[in-house]
Amino acid sequence: MDEIIRKRKSIRKYEKTPLDDVTLSKIETQITNVKPLYPDIKYSIKITNKLKGLFGITSPHYLVFCSDEKEGYLENIGFIGQQLDLFFSKSGLGSCWLGMAKPQEKNTQPLVICMAFGKPAEPLHRNILDFKRKSLSTISEGTDKRLEAARLAPSGMNAQNWYFIAQPDKIHCYRKKPTFSFAPVRLGCIDLGIALCHIAKESEQFTFIKEDNSPQRKNCIYMGTVVKQ
Ligand SMILES: Cc1cc2nc3c(=O)[nH]c(=O)nc-3n(C[C@H](O)[C@H](O)[C@H](O)COP(=O)(O)O)c2cc1C
Repeated sequence: MDEIIRKRKSIRKYEKTPLDDVTLSKIETQITNVKPLYPDIKYSIKITNKLKGLFGITSPHYLVFCSDEKEGYLENIGFIGQQLDLFFSKSGLGSCWLGMAKPQEKNTQPLVICMAFGKPAEPLHRNILDFKRKSLSTISEGTDKRLEAARLAPSGMNAQNWYFIAQPDKIHCYRKKPTFSFAPVRLGCIDLGIALCHIAKESEQFTFIKEDNSPQRKNCIYMGTVVKQ
């Protein structure tokens, strides 16, 4: 499995010194190189140094993810943002998704989510044994070696509200139905996109489609199927 998936973690303490221009320019390049899950949804990613609603996670830099609100846009941003989270971790930088933060100025496109990044002021990586995750049997059925990468994916409040049904050459993907009315549906969709990014990293070819006859699962919403094509 991808080495970074096995050791990444959210970083909540950052050095105050901003990153140098060369590093920031490499990050800008990486931003333009990410692969979307749904290529026809317009989105933007901007780097800023000020956000509100940070709840103690202060860093010299943040990413602001905005998107047109077309079907699948939340999964799309999760998929894109997680590529950057893994890139930061691989490059010796820390990052943390920020579900509550907002930019100080209004954007032209609707805001989806933000992410802090910068030089870590705490250990950047961890041992596989230190992941706090549900067991594979709680979140999936069937066998596919890529499911372990999905299991290790980060999720809002570490809810891990996803479910996967593996069949030969296919992974059907679901999110759990929210159990209370104000449960964060948005986070559930972003989280699924994040888990899909980890599955894509482990796939030789990655194609995600909506199938008409996917298996149904109680208390779960079908989100799509990873297929080999
Ligand atoms: C969509 C999303 C939103 C998140 N929002 C916050 C946040 O607002 N504040 C925070 O401290 N962590 C936030 N996190 C980080 C999660 O708490 C973290 O990913 C989870 O606890 C698992 O830990 P790990 O990332 O170290 O594996 C968020 C994660 C995701 C995926």
